[in-house]
Amino acid sequence: MSLRIAPLADGYDLASFSCGQPALDTWLREHAQHATRQGTRTYLLLEERSERVVGYFAIAPYLLEREQAPRRVGRGAPLRIPAILLAKLALHERLHGRGLGAELLVQALTVIVAAARAAGGRVVVVDAIDENAANFSVAHDFERLPNDQQRLIVKLSTVAQALELPWP
Ligand SMILES: CC(C)(COP(=O)(O)OP(=O)(O)OC[C@H]1O[C@@H](n2cnc3c(N)ncnc32)[C@H](O)[C@@H]1OP(=O)(O)O)[C@@H](O)C(=O)NCCC(=O)NCCS
Repeated sequence: MSLRIAPLADGYDLASFSCGQPALDTWLREHAQHATRQGTRTYLLLEERSERVVGYFAIAPYLLEREQAPRRVGRGAPLRIPAILLAKLALHERLHGRGLGAELLVQALTVIVAAARAAGGRVVVVDAIDENAANFSVAHDFERLPNDQQRLIVKLSTVAQALELPWP
């Protein structure tokens, strides 16, 4: 199966997307377009031939209060740490469990690193929808914020190094 990433646009069938978390399906159908006007960017994972939507992620610029960050990340950083928020990430449920969620995460982080190289940024923050999502992020080197277990963080320099992307 050949897959590609494309920015959210009109004309895609969002109604048949189902990731096992109804809130994330609804968000894509009903709120993603509005969120774009508010400053969020949503990208779709498409089956190349059918153009079927099989996943998506949404990112936005973010400022993390330094006092919320683990000390190692906050040291030397400004009071508000420039960040990119990985606000949503979901894969169609019929594709779960074969490594594609990890691939989608890599695609999201690649877009994030490129954006931060151009515009600046020190960390990636993930909002995990539940404990399962938080565990998925921990499995991919994100660290829980000390006072907010559903919010996780990784330094952009660490991501760039892991993905062998240029930084800064
Ligand atoms: C979370 C989600 C994207 C994972 O996709 P997936 O294709 O099932 O996961 P993968 O098969 O790519 O798993 C990749 C790795 O993450 C691990 N992993 C997957 N889900 C995990 C979980 N809930 N907890 C811990 N590790 C997890 C896998 O064991 C695998 O590790 P390995 O490479 O060492 O074998 C998918 O289940 C999904 O869309 N869920 C609903 C939406 C959601 O919860 N989104 C939030 C994500 S932050």
